[in-house]
Amino acid sequence: MFSRPTEGASIAITFEGAAVAARPGDSVAAALLAAGHLVFRDTALSGAPRGPYCMMGACFDCLVEIDGVPARQACMTEVRPGMRVVRQHGAADYAHHEGATEAAPA
Ligand code: FES
Repeated sequence: MFSRPTEGASIAITFEGAAVAARPGDSVAAALLAAGHLVFRDTALSGAPRGPYCMMGACFDCLVEIDGVPARQACMTEVRPGMRVVRQHGAADYAHHEGATEAAPA
């Protein structure tokens, strides 16, 4: 159905600690899907698995944590060398991500 060019430079990122070879210009979602990863997050209430649906920033089913920052849209984020991407589990905990500067409101 779809094919991907095989030539071109490779950009190394990780997903759940596993190496993923992306291409320059790839979105994180495109790179992960091309590597065979379909589940990017689970829902806050039921824990149901979710993966990219719209690939244009509308559905938010592609949310992942990138370099310690939660709730990033994988379909709207271009890969950079060394990115560490992990699944988003439930609702984002902004108060405890690596870049947080103040506590979340009570
Ligand atoms: S796939 Fe729909 S917002 Fe990213």
